Amino acid sequence: MEKPIKIAIVGSGYGRKVALPVYAELKEFEPVAVWSRRPERAQELAGEAGVGLGTADFDELLSVPGLEAVHVATPVATHVPFAVAAAERGLHVMCEKPLADNLEGARRIVAAIRSAGVVGLVDYELRMKQTRQRVIERAREVVGRPRMASISLVHSDHADPDSRPYTWVHDSRLGGGRLQGYGVHDLNLLLEVFLDVEAVAAATEVGVPVREADDGEQRVTAEDAYALLLRFRGGGLGVVTLVATARHGRSDVIEIHGDEGTVRLDGDRRVWWGRAGEALQSEGPLEESSTEAFKRVARNFWASVRKGATPDPSLEEGLRVQAIFDAVRTADIERRWVQPEPVTSP
Ligand SMILES: NC(=O)c1ccc[n+]([C@@H]2O[C@H](COP(=O)([O-])OP(=O)(O)OC[C@H]3O[C@@H](n4cnc5c(N)ncnc54)[C@H](OP(=O)(O)O)[C@@H]3O)[C@@H](O)[C@H]2O)c1
Repeated sequence: MEKPIKIAIVGSGYGRKVALPVYAELKEFEPVAVWSRRPERAQELAGEAGVGLGTADFDELLSVPGLEAVHVATPVATHVPFAVAAAERGLHVMCEKPLADNLEGARRIVAAIRSAGVVGLVDYELRMKQTRQRVIERAREVVGRPRMASISLVHSDHADPDSRPYTWVHDSRLGGGRLQGYGVHDLNLLLEVFLDVEAVAAATEVGVPVREADDGEQRVTAEDAYALLLRFRGGGLGVVTLVATARHGRSDVIEIHGDEGTVRLDGDRRVWWGRAGEALQSEGPLEESSTEAFKRVARNFWASVRKGATPDPSLEEGLRVQAIFDAVRTADIERRWVQPEPVTSP
């Protein structure tokens, strides 16, 4: 076993709940520093996790002796300065998804990583959940050309004004909204199966418009529901929806119908698949833990840094999703079909 990668985690939300415990558990990593906007919070986190440095000073974090990599887990609109600064210091970068709040920002991150010659991954971990891995594998095996694909997410965690306190997630200026939370993962899954989207239409809505913040009530500007319509290049449609304000949530449901076969993830975490003329077979319930999914991403990061393995999920994948995400934003605002910008290969 080669020596573990010394890594710093930037962000006290997902960074603390999922990334830091996974890096601490895996022998492939050694977390050496954590960052929060608040120095006391950073020190508290470092103390809890037994990490050497907790700081609110990003430059201090980047200067830790022997540091090799940084995981950026801050609001989407702040990824660019953190990720670019880390790459420019010669550090490998694991960037949270989506890479940025627009394609231009995502390209800046990718350019900085490439010109520094460091490894970059984007944390599209949802497709590493066993349920979704199996959907992708079976779809590649049996579906053929797309006819109709649908992904429907029903969550109840934003149903009431006090069910989630106001944070950047409710602020469109910081890149908040459920599209950045879940929509990009679903677009990512469809791109893994069908590769190319010709055009998108979209509608978003804020169902609960006011939430309580530390300093009083705040107006919510980022969507808690969306409906996206995709036209795949060469034919076939996709429908991607989420409501985060439902009164009764359920597990994700995915259906992929192609000219040769069918794949379905049902609400009980079972995957069904079959070719034309066959009865559907099924497998499950399958595992759906975020922690296990992130372990797979983290191990891929290690393999890219230490063994030169192809990064997975890759920056190119991050750019392809970002191009569709940008088109979705334009389609929603301008109420028209929009063609995603082409993303050139590295
Ligand atoms: N891969 C996945 O499946 C997954 C899952 C969840 C989240 N994420 C991603 O992780 C990132 C962070 O999300 P989260 O849920 O962890 O958010 P969060 O819990 O609100 O944590 C955000 C972190 O950024 C800091 N922060 C908040 N507002 C900021 C601002 N205006 N400028 C700079 N820093 C700010 C916070 O500082 P304090 O420490 O002072 O609070 C905190 O450390 C996002 O990119 C999100 O998409 C990914």
